[in-house]
Parts: sequence; C-alpha cells; structure tokens
Amino acid sequence: MKETISGLSVYFEGNSKNKSIIFLHGFPYDHTMWKAQIDELSEKYFCVTYDIRGLGESPVGDGQHTMEYFVDDLETIINELKLDKPILCGLSMGGYISFRALERMEEKFSAVILCDTKSEADNNEGKLKRAAAIKRINTEGLAPFAKDFITNCFGDNYKQHNKEEFKKRIAKSSGFDPVGVKGSLLAMLSRNDTTEYLSNVKIPALIICGEHDALTPPAVMKPLAEKINGAEYVVIKNSGHMSPIENPEEVNIALRDFLNKL
Ligand code: MLT
Repeated sequence: MKETISGLSVYFEGNSKNKSIIFLHGFPYDHTMWKAQIDELSEKYFCVTYDIRGLGESPVGDGQHTMEYFVDDLETIINELKLDKPILCGLSMGGYISFRALERMEEKFSAVILCDTKSEADNNEGKLKRAAAIKRINTEGLAPFAKDFITNCFGDNYKQHNKEEFKKRIAKSSGFDPVGVKGSLLAMLSRNDTTEYLSNVKIPALIICGEHDALTPPAVMKPLAEKINGAEYVVIKNSGHMSPIENPEEVNIALRDFLNKL
C-alpha cells in the first residue's frame, strides 16, 4: 500500500496492529532497496518505508535539504501513522538519519538496526568530494556520477552475478531529479557528528556490515558497534556496501535473529 504523507511517497506492508519497522534507504536509491527484507518480515511486522525527500518519487522542492529536515520527515511519518515505538532500520544515509533521530528522540523507538553506515560527519576530504560531485552533476548531468557512485557501492561478486539488476539500479537512480540528488549531497555534507551519542544509546541495537564494504568497511563499523552498549555486530559475507540487496539471505537471518530476541 502507498500513501502520501507530507508530500513523501510512503509504502507499507503487513498488519498495522503488528510491531512496526521503519526502513530508511541509502543514497542515491529509493525504498525498493528493502524489498527482500520487507517480503521476509511483513508477515510478522508492519513494515513501513518511504522515498527520502528529493529521491525516488518523493518531491524535490527547492533541493535545499538538511539532515534535520530528513529527521523531521521521519518524525512526521511516525506521528501521522501513529506508530508505537517502531524499530528503526537505516542503511548508510538512512543510518545518518537514524543516528540523528536517536540523538533527537530515542524514546520514540524500541530498537535500531544500522547497516553499512557511520556516525562521523564528513571530514574535509569528504566535504570536498561532495562539492566535486555537485559540480560534476551540474556540468555532466546525473548519469555519469550515479554510475560511478553506485559501482563503488556494490561488491564485485554482486556486479559479476547480477549484471542486469545492477544495470537497472544505475538506470533508476540516473533517472532521479538531479536537484534532489544534490539536496541529499548537501544534507550529508552538512550533517553533524553523532559519535558522542553512541555511548548513550539505550535501546537494543544491531550493526550490520558487508565484509567488502568500500565506503563504511568493517574497520569503521566494528568500532562503531563497540561504542553502543550491548550492540550486536554482524558481518555479511560476499557483500559490499549494499548488504540488504547483495546478500539478502544473510541479512534477513541477522534481522530475524535480532528481532526474535526483542
Ligand atoms: C549511502 O549509501 O547512503 C551513501 O554511501 C552515503 C554517503 O555517501 O556517505
């Protein structure tokens, strides 16, 4: 089912009386990246996902986006759907939104799942890379940037064995509105560092990392997990940065094991 909330395209599967999980996608993707997880979990959970502002089918507006604005959207959706302490599940940029949401309103959630992400803000080099990406999109259009960025996200195993699916991902993201994609780049570039908050997290946490993740590798994610009291840490084999797409079987096992314990 689909509903429009605050202009955003919001999708849900499962019985709304069940415990809810809200899934936040990465950049530059849309809600469809969580399909395998929602197919697996919607029998037992009310699964909610949406296209982050500026991406997929959600409105682009003026493209002047911030992480705060993205967290406001998350809060609006939770309030509008009257979700009672949902489980928050975010990948990469969806993880950045999740970290800031915990910092702002942890009491609204019952557990958190963080996939292929990090709590640190962009350093100088990272900021300059975002600026270069915006310049590249302005001069060359979105497609070359999307192709290079997405190629770096996926591990070799997935790219070799899922050539058609991989091409479709690139084509889909290349068709997004460049203003919205640049809006996400601005939001990520200007986000705050949430590392200090990690030791305050009180809700159960699961940290998932693709073993070949080139953007947020295990060397970044293991220390992150160690900063959260009692967090579980799972490395996903044969996977790059997009573990829920690249190795859905292992990710789903990790999710089910974690959720069953709650
Ligand atoms: C993502 O997957 O959301 C991006 O890799 C995040 C980023 O560029 O920092």
